[in-house]
Amino acid sequence: MPPGVAFASGHFTAENIITKTTRSGDLVGVFHDEAAWRALPAGTTIYQVEMLPSPDGEGELFVGTTHLNPGRVGDEFYMTRGHFHQRREQGEVYFGLRGSGLLLLQSEQGEARFEQVSQGSVHIIPGNTAHRLINTGSEVLSALAVWPTIAGHDYASLAQGFALRVFLWEGEIQARGVQYG
Ligand code: PA5
Ligand code: NI
Repeated sequence: MPPGVAFASGHFTAENIITKTTRSGDLVGVFHDEAAWRALPAGTTIYQVEMLPSPDGEGELFVGTTHLNPGRVGDEFYMTRGHFHQRREQGEVYFGLRGSGLLLLQSEQGEARFEQVSQGSVHIIPGNTAHRLINTGSEVLSALAVWPTIAGHDYASLAQGFALRVFLWEGEIQARGVQYG
């Protein structure tokens, strides 16, 4: 049997899955409201990534699913750390499995935009584009991703954060630009 993915849960149906958990305490400096972030127990799970075992090297692909919990730090929705690829020119495909949220995309020039993520949505992330998932819904947001194993992750280039943040303000989902420097 080839590996599969269960749409209802977003989980892989395969053996030897590798799982990585990212907790609140791992996301230093990621959320806008530092006091609210400090108030969260550091062990609070924000997201988990499941990966299929796959070979490494030029021409190979990684396949993973991200399960991003619903919730907020202060008014800001839970999100992944977000990254550029170390090999900037390498792209990626995301596929929505369950839940609803946003994929935040940002160019190297700092231009940011969103795509709506929902069950069945397909997102082609071009090369040279940073990406972050944001869960604006009330259930787990799960998305499958496929990317070249040579791509790598560059988190450091986004240490200042993305140009847009997403909050629940007055009962509405609102994106706000962020001034840095
Ligand atoms: O390859 C990807 O883009 C995803 O699998 C992400 O790594 C995953 O969503 C976790 O996000 P981050 O790597 O930004 O913590
Ligand atoms: Ni990526």
